[in-house]
Amino acid sequence: MIQPAAPTDLITVNIDGREIAVPKGTNMIEAARRVNVDVPFYCYHPKLSVVGNCRMCLVEMGMPAVDPATKAPIMDPATGKQKINWMPRPTIACATNASPGLHIRTTTPMVKDCREGVMEFLLINHPLDCPICDQAGECKLQEQSTGYGRGYSRFIEHKNVKPKRTQLGPRVTLDDERCILCSRCIRFSKEIAKDDVLGFTDRGSYSTLTCYPGRKLENNYSLNTVDICPVGALTSTDFRFKMRVWFLKQTDSIDMESSAGANTVVWSREGVIYRITPRQNDAVNDTWMADSGRILYKSVRGPGRLEAVRLNGADSALDFAVAAAGALLKAGGVAVVGSGRSSVEEQFLTQQLAQAARAPAALVARVGEGDGLLVAADRNPNVRGALVTGLITRLPSAQLTELGAQIDAGAVKTVVAVGEDLTAAGLSADQLAKVAVIYLGTHANPTSEAAKIVIPTLTVFEKHGTVVNQQFRIQRFARAVPGPAGAADDLLALAKLVSAAGGPAFGADVGSLWPAIAAAVPALATLTYANIPDSGLLLDATPWAALPFAEGPGLHYQPAAKEVPRA
Ligand code: SF4
Ligand code: FES
Repeated sequence: MIQPAAPTDLITVNIDGREIAVPKGTNMIEAARRVNVDVPFYCYHPKLSVVGNCRMCLVEMGMPAVDPATKAPIMDPATGKQKINWMPRPTIACATNASPGLHIRTTTPMVKDCREGVMEFLLINHPLDCPICDQAGECKLQEQSTGYGRGYSRFIEHKNVKPKRTQLGPRVTLDDERCILCSRCIRFSKEIAKDDVLGFTDRGSYSTLTCYPGRKLENNYSLNTVDICPVGALTSTDFRFKMRVWFLKQTDSIDMESSAGANTVVWSREGVIYRITPRQNDAVNDTWMADSGRILYKSVRGPGRLEAVRLNGADSALDFAVAAAGALLKAGGVAVVGSGRSSVEEQFLTQQLAQAARAPAALVARVGEGDGLLVAADRNPNVRGALVTGLITRLPSAQLTELGAQIDAGAVKTVVAVGEDLTAAGLSADQLAKVAVIYLGTHANPTSEAAKIVIPTLTVFEKHGTVVNQQFRIQRFARAVPGPAGAADDLLALAKLVSAAGGPAFGADVGSLWPAIAAAVPALATLTYANIPDSGLLLDATPWAALPFAEGPGLHYQPAAKEVPRA
């Protein structure tokens, strides 16, 4: 993408007669985009190297004429302006960078002819199977043949037959007949995923995309090739033929598998999620996300979903359960275990709950190996949110050893577990049997089985909220689908528990809760849920700069680098 440039770096180019100042080096596709001039393309991708092999972006190009001997401008007597020397042949806009005085024309008969010719060549061996193609609705070939094609075919020969339904790897299916040989998938694998597994074999019309012998497209970023394939050649094995994309609702969300916080879009229809794709954020994930983050929605309808409030092993109304919890919380001897998977809002209320119950609060760490891209070593998406809201003051550990000792010593009688399975964090069944557990969570586990009170809550796809990623960037996610009928919104359940423990009354939705958060949390003062930009907002990380965070370098993240705080 274009980097912001100092005003001195700006140069003037002319696009279809309109002068525009762009940063030096901007390619002419991006320059034209700035003045809403559409230059069609296939192989160009702003995050990949430029190869110039589809020729769809052909334009006419000219430079101001100068006298070769004196270098003086040659003026056009008819217009009184400097004459433009137009090149006799078209040039590709993707590989033409802005230089002072550069002129391009995108609407001339020559350009129109070029586009029609390129479309005709691209469609020669294409199967034209749009009605049964999974790419329909987001196919650049379909769109641009409508916009720039000839409208009829002169081809009467037999089309090449190429392999169909090739499994390139566990998640990607290739229909080679539809491939237009743009090489975006090859460049992505090599340049971004650092897994040089794809290539073309054979020549001319017989060129075919394939994996290198003995290799598979199975890296954890393989589905990005599906996202950037401009035609229906690469499809997601999981999503293909499940739903036409124009029926799907798009909701902005965040990948919760780690603290990288890749921006995503959740695609759903009538309460059912069908796929997750990356959302462009040039400061976080560019246009990519990991495959592992795309399947997280499967837990929404997965086995073990909690759907009824339980009190002493029997179904209960939420208010009865909250009243029973209130008695336990007021009796003292309480400990609170929050979660690095909870939102900032939930962590704020968890902290308020701990305060009202005069209870210590802990978090459970999840640390794995970072991949240097968009799966960070910290598998909790929001440990920094817990620091910012004051729920914790130091980094968590993976085992609740201290809490276990307090239970054994009889100092803790009630444990509130917000979304964490305490047995996975080192507490034994015996220790759980010694305390009354109040469990809030989405899925059944040994802790919910042992709990006196169970309040089913919502997955990230069923609620609004914010998380703070490894850069200390606060980012919003929104509700894509409704939760199960018996589940309570986490904020509602927590706000009721805070009140029941003798704490203040809080709003039970993000909009009404944020004024209280902004008033109580210095790092979030002046913010509201609504005024956090879609691309997130960097917080001042200075108070936590000395903490030994687990993350190593990743895409747009350097652990040692100081992020620029918001103004
Ligand atoms: S499979 Fe798609 S992305 Fe890959 S070369 Fe063919 S058209 Fe381009
Ligand atoms: S986009 Fe320019 S040649 Fe393909």
